[in-house]
Amino acid sequence: MRLVKTIRELKQELEPIRRSGVTVGFVPTMGYLHEGHLSLMRKSVEECGFTVVSIFVNPTQFGPGEDYDRYPRDLERDLSMCESVGVDLVFAPGVSEMYEPDACTRVTVSGLTQNLCGRSRPGHFDGVTTVVCKLFNMVRPDRAYFGQKDAQQVAVVRRMVRDLNIPVEVREMPTVREPDGLAMSSRNVYLSPDQRRAALSLHRSLRTAADMIEKGERSAAKIRERMIDIILSSGLAELDYVEIVDADSLRNIDTLKGEVLIAVAVKFGQTRLIDNIKVVVH
Ligand code: PAJ
Repeated sequence: MRLVKTIRELKQELEPIRRSGVTVGFVPTMGYLHEGHLSLMRKSVEECGFTVVSIFVNPTQFGPGEDYDRYPRDLERDLSMCESVGVDLVFAPGVSEMYEPDACTRVTVSGLTQNLCGRSRPGHFDGVTTVVCKLFNMVRPDRAYFGQKDAQQVAVVRRMVRDLNIPVEVREMPTVREPDGLAMSSRNVYLSPDQRRAALSLHRSLRTAADMIEKGERSAAKIRERMIDIILSSGLAELDYVEIVDADSLRNIDTLKGEVLIAVAVKFGQTRLIDNIKVVVH
């Protein structure tokens, strides 16, 4: 496995690969890797002849007062994890390599970014789409792998790829969870033992929603109410949102129908966690 830190080296490494006609798979990450990230890499290694992983904590997707400075970082550990699953090339640029000081171009996906995390984190998705677009142009992958854990992110990236005709196939992979159901996240390390226990209410609320739907409930209001009850009764939770939206438009719906995304964002102390499920309702 090779590690490169500049765009020039990245191009040099990728040129012969691309010329040989090998399929290039790409997994963008912010590092501090866990099984969720590794599941994306394994899929890429399985489906593509060459797998590139980027590790870059992207400052432009963090708002003022968010956790950019204290976001966990451990490149050595990340590299050995990448190597263990057969990644071919890691791109780990510094901030000055990624952003020109006088950069004045941004990629904005409107509409889809109005709801859910876009509402709670203004500007966040502009940072995501801008950096992902830049990374796509640097790596020029055939396929790129994203996790359902960040369902709005995948929807927004897909829309950008479609609207800007970026020649990449976006693949969405299922959320990887701890044995007790907590969705894996680099931010889980921030949680105290009490918060960690309370955070299980996210998954519990989503499972309850799935159960209610299974039993015939179609009212978004009723399902939301139960979910909010479950999350707040965990004690330490500060609710950001519990939303039931159409999986395609990400607009709120009153009556469940078609593919539905149920998404939650909750703060435990300073730590904001998100989780979601998708359900097809007939
Ligand atoms: P990061 O949070 O490091 O996540 C990188 C990828 O791993 C994303 O596609 C995310 O959805 C996926 N992922 C995270 N936790 C997961 C889990 N438990 N199961 C499955 N997949 C999981 O998302 C970002 O970084 C950034 O926004 C990025 C796209 C790299 C742009 O900066």
